[in-house]
Amino acid sequence: MLNTLPQQPADALLALIKLHNEDPRADKIDLGVGVYRTGDGATPVFAAIKAAEKRLLETQDSKAYLGPEGDMGFVRALMPWVFGKANPTMDGRIDGMQTPGGTGGVRLAVALAKRAGVNRVLMGLPSWPNHAQIYADLGVELKGFNHAGKDGKVDMDALRAAIAEAQAGDAILLHGCCHNPTGIDYSHADWDEIAGLLAAKGLLPILDLAYQGLGQGMEEDAYGVRRVLAAVPEALIAYSCDKNFGMYRDRVGAVYVMVSDPAQLGAVLSNGYALARAAWSMPPDHGAAAVRLILEDEGLVKLWQGELDDMRARMNQVRARLAGAGHAGSIDLAPLGAQNGLFSVLPLSGEQILKLRNDHGIYMAGSGRINVAGLTMDNIGKFIADLGAVAA
Ligand SMILES: Cc1ncc(COP(=O)(O)O)c(C=O)c1O
Repeated sequence: MLNTLPQQPADALLALIKLHNEDPRADKIDLGVGVYRTGDGATPVFAAIKAAEKRLLETQDSKAYLGPEGDMGFVRALMPWVFGKANPTMDGRIDGMQTPGGTGGVRLAVALAKRAGVNRVLMGLPSWPNHAQIYADLGVELKGFNHAGKDGKVDMDALRAAIAEAQAGDAILLHGCCHNPTGIDYSHADWDEIAGLLAAKGLLPILDLAYQGLGQGMEEDAYGVRRVLAAVPEALIAYSCDKNFGMYRDRVGAVYVMVSDPAQLGAVLSNGYALARAAWSMPPDHGAAAVRLILEDEGLVKLWQGELDDMRARMNQVRARLAGAGHAGSIDLAPLGAQNGLFSVLPLSGEQILKLRNDHGIYMAGSGRINVAGLTMDNIGKFIADLGAVAA
């Protein structure tokens, strides 16, 4: 029976990493990776995480099972950061559970939506490729619309039209901040309008917040999520700590549910527990426990915030330098200065992307997505010059 399974395509980004690793050129540049890099090209463990892990090692006295909800101390400690310190539970309407990374959060959010009767998800394209894979695996239809226009701004007309045409049984997935892959986020005025449109239409929002703090700051990056939640009766929120705590391989995430009636919250979450139990039983503990220890300790919070500020400052420095260059050949780099997070998309043809790789040792995804954290003050001049030569 197993012989009948056809070969699946290799993950394009993993294949790109392999090609980059095998390239002997000393001045090669890797813009394909999905993780933050320092100016020295490293992806270090946060000092705040190291300190929390040390404490965990000294104090953890059992590895006994938790429940499918994971570490509820972690889940609850995160809530004021996501939903605001003033009313993090929205009067008892929000609670959540730990998931294996933000991917587990998205997976559970879509599975819960499906259980509640959703059979189609509206989503701006391009998006993180795993979104579409999760919908396909769960048998939920994707209705795509254009996320951004040629002018490098959000295509609000496309979003308005998609919402206007939505039907009963639809949900809509929106990136909370630092849109992957375009870096093009909704403005505050856009979010205000979106919140009103979603409320008027009765569409179920699924909000994916995977990069809080990497855009403008922890508070600023939560604007859209909070604005939507203040306007609608119910929503699902998928959260990742894998970027803002640098925990990638430790798989730290959560899914939150907001209901209209607090009395229903337990019943809704029990569906999340049942889905988790049948999939991974319970999430891995270590990373979330370390994040919880940070969030419970004022000193460690300060240390973590400083490290997050440094990350953001470095990405902004790279973005400012790119934008300051004006054009690289026919490519206008100015919009990159106003975009957020790790990623941006360059309007390059497949041929140009291949030429950059083969002739100049510059590696990026086939979509033209670049990770700005792959650039340093040492290699950015070469990048702009080579891009200009290829896109002349
Ligand atoms: C938009 C978006 N959502 C969710 C995730 C999942 O993150 P995690 O690595 O925590 O599973 C990612 C990761 O790249 C992402 O870009």
